[in-house]
Amino acid sequence: MKYQEILKTAKDELSQAPDTNALYQVRVRYLGKNGTITSLMKELKNLSPEKRPAFGQQINELKNAIEEHYQNRKKTLKKSEISHEVSKDFLDLSLPGPTPKGGAFHPIEQIIQKTSSIFTHLGYKKVSGPLIETDWYNFSALNIPPDHPSRDNQDTFYLDSEHLLRTHTSPVQIRSLERLKPPLAIIAPGAVFRRDEIDSSHSPHFHQMEGLFIDRKVSMSHLKGTLSYFLKELQGSSAKIRFRPSFFPFTEPSAEYDSSCFICKGKGCSLCKGTGWIEIGGCGLVHPQVLKASEVNPEKWQGFAFGMGMDRLALLEYGIPDIRLFYENRMSFLEQFENALFF
Ligand code: DAH
Repeated sequence: MKYQEILKTAKDELSQAPDTNALYQVRVRYLGKNGTITSLMKELKNLSPEKRPAFGQQINELKNAIEEHYQNRKKTLKKSEISHEVSKDFLDLSLPGPTPKGGAFHPIEQIIQKTSSIFTHLGYKKVSGPLIETDWYNFSALNIPPDHPSRDNQDTFYLDSEHLLRTHTSPVQIRSLERLKPPLAIIAPGAVFRRDEIDSSHSPHFHQMEGLFIDRKVSMSHLKGTLSYFLKELQGSSAKIRFRPSFFPFTEPSAEYDSSCFICKGKGCSLCKGTGWIEIGGCGLVHPQVLKASEVNPEKWQGFAFGMGMDRLALLEYGIPDIRLFYENRMSFLEQFENALFF
């Protein structure tokens, strides 16, 4: 019988077992019901009666030796496992705690706060309106006739025949005129929705900021002065403004306004496609129909309104190439805007 050999491999395996679980598995292989010792016992009956006692004694000795080794190794492993547990649980109260990650506003929220604060410092009140609008507030009251292309199914998410997701922040003009008595000066930043195909500069969910100023004898020069001040605050005192004649149903006259390029300051670069100018938004004097729709007397009150795209401003301000980055919630992108602005 290979008594010495079996004992040696059993000892080796027992002393190499890394933990009490593994150790127990080794024990089962040798001393278990289907283990080495049991199969040796079964060989007993094949031996002649004279040989049996000596062989049986050997098996017993082997069994006891393995058991003894098992018990010794178990003690050692238990001790080290206990001391390991203790060191794992040991709490050093003098260690500094983990530093919590600082939160940050989304870049769109940051640009909204930055642009809003320029207007609130001028005395404008920040207001908001519902994202789900009626046809009346989003279109009719703004003098947008039923056959106007911006009512087209292509552009608008209709919820039913009467309700829709607002396609611009201009309905807040009507809600403010109804709620607040003129004179008034409000800004209304917020989300808007259009059925646009997604690409690097279009998203079906984006953000605008509306401005409305109502007083007596308001003219285009008040409007231009206000927007010029805004761009200088945003871009520095060298920023220039340009008006281009345009058309909006809710303003008359209407204009689109541009800023001198954020990058080249008017010299011409790839951002402004060599023109030196960057399109910012639409504006104009409030159409008398809009005042009438909100029961404000256009003989007595005039005003100007303006709109601007917040996403576009954020893209320009931070030099971001793709609007989709704002809506993917990727932490690696968002983390770059931690404390990007102080105001
Ligand atoms: N509502 C317009 C749009 O979404 C933007 C706009 C143009 C707003 C002229 C205004 C304005 O207040 O006067 O395209």
